[in-house]
Amino acid sequence: MTQNSLTVPVEQENNDLWTLLRLLRWVTTYFTEKGIDSPRLDAELLLAHTLQLDRVGLYLNYDRPLLAAELDKIRPLVKRRGQREPLQYLLGTTEFWSLEFVVTPAVLIPRADTEILVEEALNHTGPEGQLLDVGTGSGAIVISLASERPTWQMTGLDISSPALAVAQKNVARHQLEKRIELLQGDLAELPQRQYDLIVSNPPYISRQEWDELMPEVRCFEPQLALLADNDGLECYQQLVTQAQTRLNAHGWLLVEIGYQQAEAVKSLFLAAGFKDVFVRKDYSGQPRVVGGCLY
Ligand SMILES: C[S@@+](CC[C@H](N)C(=O)[O-])C[C@H]1O[C@@H](n2cnc3c(N)ncnc32)[C@H](O)[C@@H]1O
Repeated sequence: MTQNSLTVPVEQENNDLWTLLRLLRWVTTYFTEKGIDSPRLDAELLLAHTLQLDRVGLYLNYDRPLLAAELDKIRPLVKRRGQREPLQYLLGTTEFWSLEFVVTPAVLIPRADTEILVEEALNHTGPEGQLLDVGTGSGAIVISLASERPTWQMTGLDISSPALAVAQKNVARHQLEKRIELLQGDLAELPQRQYDLIVSNPPYISRQEWDELMPEVRCFEPQLALLADNDGLECYQQLVTQAQTRLNAHGWLLVEIGYQQAEAVKSLFLAAGFKDVFVRKDYSGQPRVVGGCLY
C-alpha cells in the first residue's frame, strides 16, 4: 500500500486485519504528508464521526477490526481532507460559544476569535433591546447572543440566501425562532429600523492578503464572506455610515477586525462621530474588536 494511493486495504497480505488504531496511524501519516496542521486530531475526529463514536469511544475500540463497508465510507472523506477541504465541512458541524452549529460551504466556519465579539456584545447589552447582526452567515453570533440574552429581540442579516438557509437551520436547532428574525439584505442599505446594538464580523480580507490564505480558506470558504475592497475596509466604511441612522441614542456598533486594521477602523468610527471608541484585543494579544457609541 502506498500512502498516496488511498487504497486503504481491508486486509494486508499476511491476513492481518485493519484495526481502528492501525487505520488511525495510517490516516495521520497521510494527513501529515498533505501538510495538514493537526493530522492526528483531524484523523481522530474524522474516524470518530464516520464510525459514530466519540473520541473516548475511539480509544476504547482501538483493536476493533474495520469492516469493508466502514472503510468505503471513510476513504472519500480522508481523500477530501487530504485535498485540504476543511474538516468542519466534512463533519457538517462545528462548535462556537459551546454550542453546535451546522456548517456547509455556503457559510464561513465560525472562528474562536469571534467569541471576543460575542463577549464585547454581552458587555454592551442592557436588560432588554433590539440587536442586529450584520453578515450573520451561519448565525453563530446572533444565536450565541440570543442564548445569553433571553429578553432581547435579534435580527440576523446577510446578502447570501444559501447562507441564510444554513442560519435558519441553526436558529431552529437552538429553538430560537421566536426571538431571531433572519433577513436578506445588503449592509450598504441596512433595514429602516432602530437598534440598540449592531454587531458585525464583515468580510475584511484585502485582495493583497487573499493569495496568502491557507488552502482550506482560499479554496473552500465563500469568497463573499471574506474579501473586501479598499484594503479590506469597505464594509467598515459602509457600516459606520449606516449605523449613524439605525442606532438609538446610546446605541453601540461593535465590529470584528483583522489584526492590522485597528487604527484604520478606529479612525472611521471617530470620523463618523462615534464616541468612547475602543479596541479590544483577543487572547493572543491581537486587536480583534473595535466599538463605539452614538450619544
Ligand atoms: C466573515 S463572514 C461572518 C459570518 C458569521 N457572522 C461569523 O462570524 O462566523 C461575513 C458574512 O457577511 C456576508 N456578506 C458579505 N457581503 C455582504 C453584504 N454586502 N451585505 C450583507 N452581508 C454580506 C457574507 O455572506 C458572510 O456570511
